[in-house]
Amino acid sequence: MDKLVIEGGKPLSGTIVIQGAKNAALPILAACMLVEGKVTIDHVPKLLDIDVMLNILRELGCRAEHDDQTVRLDTSSLHSSHIPEALMRQMRSSIFLMGPLLARFGEVTIYQPGGCAIGERKIDLHLSGLEALGAEIEEDGSRIVCYAKKLMGAEIHLDFPSVGATENIMMAAVLAEGLTTISNAAREPEIQDLQHFLNRMGAKIIGAGTDTITVEGVEKLTPCSYQVIPDRIVTGTVMVAAAATRGQVTLLNTCPSHLTSLIHVLRRTGVQIAVDGDIIKVGTASRPKSIDRIVTSPYPAFPTDLQSQIMVLLALADGVSVMKETIFEGRFKHVDELARMGADIRVDLSSAFIRGVSRLYGATVEATDLRAGAALVIAGLAAQGKTVVEQVHHIDRGYDRIETMLGRLGARITRFSPVPNNTIVP
Ligand code: UD1
Repeated sequence: MDKLVIEGGKPLSGTIVIQGAKNAALPILAACMLVEGKVTIDHVPKLLDIDVMLNILRELGCRAEHDDQTVRLDTSSLHSSHIPEALMRQMRSSIFLMGPLLARFGEVTIYQPGGCAIGERKIDLHLSGLEALGAEIEEDGSRIVCYAKKLMGAEIHLDFPSVGATENIMMAAVLAEGLTTISNAAREPEIQDLQHFLNRMGAKIIGAGTDTITVEGVEKLTPCSYQVIPDRIVTGTVMVAAAATRGQVTLLNTCPSHLTSLIHVLRRTGVQIAVDGDIIKVGTASRPKSIDRIVTSPYPAFPTDLQSQIMVLLALADGVSVMKETIFEGRFKHVDELARMGADIRVDLSSAFIRGVSRLYGATVEATDLRAGAALVIAGLAAQGKTVVEQVHHIDRGYDRIETMLGRLGARITRFSPVPNNTIVP
């Protein structure tokens, strides 16, 4: 497994362009299965999760190429709606294919994506949403088969505003007969991006970005070209890294309005942030101030996907901060790793109590999941001495060569990959 070796203590400085959003690209690639023909999607980052999605699409008969940041799909030869269990288990987002394949083939077979490092991650809202649209669902162990001769529009209320369930139901409803209303829908920007993409193909959807989404079913969609939005979590990760290293960074291709809660929190810690169109400038030279309480919640509140990264900044703050995680029950795995670097954090159920220290120290730490891994990289950049981050494949799921991106900002960070004879090469 690859490792990242970081020589910490150098403020980040310079300008970078932010990659396209993984969490927008994944459902959009799944939504392409609703249409027959050639679709081009731009600003699709080169990531492990995107590779897995494209491999699943190829397995189903779709032609897929990913050059630079552009994905070209030809869905005319799609012949299967059975997602093999091994591929299904590689990535939870394979669940996004359920709605589109059901709508296109009238039938889909998937397997439970299973739990993961950050929590149980159920799919009951996906299944009950599709059932409401008229699907019959048979579960046999981990195998789930879903049939529907014709999907019919319905009024669907989500008990929790699940991002994935909102997207899956939207995609299935596009080709259903009649009107579908999703209430208590998730409001994340990636859902708006999915609406824009589907509407460009001829769907009739309104309301994404609010808690009520209405989909008027259409007979057929037409292929199109589309560009995904900037990745707000990668943007936020670099903003926090700039703050934690007390650097000065300019970020291009951002969407500042998607990061209002983070910008608010960073300003409260004393970080200077200037916004100009799609450009964000972040800078600070002083020790951050603590924040009495941050609570992760569905958008537009503070995102769970930035919880571990901001915790690194608070671990270096002057004073005590409290972080409450309300989305995933197992999302404090980075705390033990940060403790190895000198952080003083105590976890009690879903809250972390963070007593800021003046300095973190380099150590060997393990990325336990994607965002925890990103947090450890930030800690390594800010720490005194050398940090080795192991299990980098978790980070590669969401960041396009994180070491190259941060290297452009002057970070001293190198990837080492094992070779078969057990030597390690950069
Ligand atoms: C998406 C994001 C992920 C982010 C999360 C929360 C993608 C590809 N991933 O994941 O990065 O961390 O939103 O912002 O967009 N739940 C149920 N039943 C369901 C579905 C979800 O109980 O059927 C629960 C989950 O267990 C979790 C919570 O709802 O506790 C949030 O999950 P959800 O919003 O669905 O997240 P994802 O779409 O999986």
